[in-house]
Amino acid sequence: MTEAQAAWGREVLLSVEDGIAWVTLNRPDKRNAINPGIVREMNAVLDAVEEDDAARVLVLTGAGSAFSAGQDLKEYFREPDQGPPLARERLLSANAAWQWRRMRFFPKPTIAMVNGWCFGGAFQVLIACDLAIAAEDARFGLSEINWGIIPAGIVTRAVADVMSQRDALYYIMTGETFDGREAAAMRLVNRAVPADRLRAETEALARRLMEKNPHVLRAAKTAYHHVRQMSWEQAFDYLLAKSDQTKYRDPERGDQEGMRQFLDEKSYRPGLQAYRRDG
Ligand code: COA
Repeated sequence: MTEAQAAWGREVLLSVEDGIAWVTLNRPDKRNAINPGIVREMNAVLDAVEEDDAARVLVLTGAGSAFSAGQDLKEYFREPDQGPPLARERLLSANAAWQWRRMRFFPKPTIAMVNGWCFGGAFQVLIACDLAIAAEDARFGLSEINWGIIPAGIVTRAVADVMSQRDALYYIMTGETFDGREAAAMRLVNRAVPADRLRAETEALARRLMEKNPHVLRAAKTAYHHVRQMSWEQAFDYLLAKSDQTKYRDPERGDQEGMRQFLDEKSYRPGLQAYRRDG
């Protein structure tokens, strides 16, 4: 085992198959509650997936009955709260690094595959992933109110980004749970599918993303996140610059090829599919 491999494999599993990096939170006995071990291993796994050319789409899921029961009340809250403040700060920062700082701008497409329980802190990475598919019977909840804290970390901010005010405040204030179907109806996830179709549907979505130009995909999601904070005038200028930068840096000059295949070769229709990337 290389030094890099030793950095994960206990509390986070990684397997790269046919272009998909399957990343599995692996504390099923603790419902994949996020502890310092997961924080450490996830940061190492993100490095590995970023560097591995064979990994083209990242799928995050959980082992057993949970996606993740959120932050570990014992190892992430109680023990660090009682320890040195600087060590606690380092843990919080390392957790923010994988759950949302890196994940929102991860250079490859990311999909959250929500297979079961999804609580509290797990909403951070759920929302930071580009796309999300849930099992219809997965159960979600902002349970913080039930044990006497506010949804901190970045949970409240993330939730405000994707849920309506009525839904966000309802679930923040009641701590009630909702299922995958309801999560899809409120657009917290893209869609909900029967549990026995979850992996196949996620894989099909990953394959659709793999047909696209990866360089442009990366620029498109980066631009999306940035322009949301800008005025229209700023966004117009930024998008022109970003678009030019993307063309300039794109090793396959996708725009030229896409236009050539449509206008000259007449071999595909961009309204209906991606241009052929093998030639
Ligand atoms: N932190 C620490 N431990 C957790 C945990 C968490 N967030 N979620 C689950 N666990 C542990 C339990 O303490 C239990 O440990 P034990 O076997 O040593 O007693 C084990 O995981 C199994 O949990 P259990 O409650 O028996 O499983 P369940 O399937 O009946 O219920 C949940 C699953 C997720 C509904 C329940 O565990 C729960 O409410 N967890 C807390 C969720 C939460 O509030 N998260 C927000 C954190 S920000």
